[in-house]
Amino acid sequence: MPVHLRAEDGDYAPNVLCPGDPRRARYIAETFFDPGARLVNEERGMLGFTGTFEGRPISVQSTGMGCPSAGIVFEELVMLGATRLVRVGTCGGLQEHVRLADVIVGSTASADDRTPIRYAGMDGYAPAATFALCEAAARLARESGATLHVGPIVTSGLFYDPDRGTFARWKRLGHLGVEMEAAMMYTVAAVKHIEAVCIVTCSDLLFESGESQRITDADLARGVDDMMRLACHVAVHDAAPEA
Ligand code: HPA
Repeated sequence: MPVHLRAEDGDYAPNVLCPGDPRRARYIAETFFDPGARLVNEERGMLGFTGTFEGRPISVQSTGMGCPSAGIVFEELVMLGATRLVRVGTCGGLQEHVRLADVIVGSTASADDRTPIRYAGMDGYAPAATFALCEAAARLARESGATLHVGPIVTSGLFYDPDRGTFARWKRLGHLGVEMEAAMMYTVAAVKHIEAVCIVTCSDLLFESGESQRITDADLARGVDDMMRLACHVAVHDAAPEA
């Protein structure tokens, strides 16, 4: 039994949704999973649940905020048999064509935090999503009518960055949004040879001036629901046969 996820082999499904917020884990299990999901972890308040989605096994496990916390959870999920991690959450939008409540799939996650690179053990390492999961997310989003962007995101170690120029520099490099866990998830997935993708909804627009615009609570609730439903479908979708 791992130190932080107090669960045994078989308590988690191979496909695991990974929100940062423990209350969002409970909400996903109660709102989107089939009735009857069970609590599998509550150590440190990091709630985890296992059940089914449209009849297929699925788990949801909260990660906390930032790479160090999330990295512990990703590692322990792998110990417990996870083979596909789907991060769900929010991001700050960086590009003009990204609007509040749009869905972003991070094809890569630049590591503006040393933790993933230290874990990879190679300075030039580029954290990347599993392509087949990006493809599945794009196809499923198109079918549902959601506005979806697929491209690079940046994983920051700072929510409150005293350098007001950071966002503009990531924007210039084509990054769609900023969040705080994807690069760690992609790196653990690469080291452990499992699948991973980060699907986030845009909760804030971050302008080059350093100003920002926050989504309304009602729009956030709608955006998060659409994104989480999409993520459930991505998590349980059948992998395409090897070409
Ligand atoms: N920074 C990092 N993570 C975030 C942000 C942000 O501005 N907004 C939502 N998640």
